[in-house]
Amino acid sequence: MTSVAVDQTEFRSVLGHFCTGVTVVTGRDGDTLAGFACQSFAALSLDPPLVLFCPGNTSSSWPRIHAAGVFCVNILGDHQLAVCKVMASKDPDKFANVGWSTKVTGSPVIDDVLAWIDCTITEVLEGGDHHIVIGRVEDLGFADSGHPLVFYKGGYGIYDA
Ligand SMILES: Cc1cc2nc3c(=O)[nH]c(=O)nc-3n(C[C@H](O)[C@H](O)[C@H](O)COP(=O)(O)O)c2cc1C
Repeated sequence: MTSVAVDQTEFRSVLGHFCTGVTVVTGRDGDTLAGFACQSFAALSLDPPLVLFCPGNTSSSWPRIHAAGVFCVNILGDHQLAVCKVMASKDPDKFANVGWSTKVTGSPVIDDVLAWIDCTITEVLEGGDHHIVIGRVEDLGFADSGHPLVFYKGGYGIYDA
């Protein structure tokens, strides 16, 4: 088999056809809060309950989350585009205007998210220019109502079922 040379722009464009929700993966290393917008989240295993996400090598939040050993996946609603944008930025104080609380791991659970999954890191694998982080679910919950923030072809949308 001969593989074609994959152009990065084409890679992004083709993969952008896979529609996902948007999460913010958060952590807390002592008093330092960390969080970044993250599309590469997936359920991995039911028994034991595992999830995964993939932080890039250039993420400044990931080393802090790694040091904490725990993280929370916050699934954003369509009312949280501003939260998404600040968490996708390099703002040194991303939580300045974001309310949060904690559950079992102490990682920030962002106010008014659609759902949250509190986890302990069990494994970190290498995946090219990203890591693959596997976490065991310690606690989780969801809101009674709301619609997801959707990411598709590099833009945001809403899903109104
Ligand atoms: C919708 C969306 C999804 C993203 N998904 C990821 C992801 O899965 N992994 C990742 O490393 N960065 C992802 N990013 C980019 C990071 O959020 C962005 O690089 C951020 O600045 C990283 O911040 P940090 O340096 O504090 O970690 C995504 C950004 C957006 C807007």
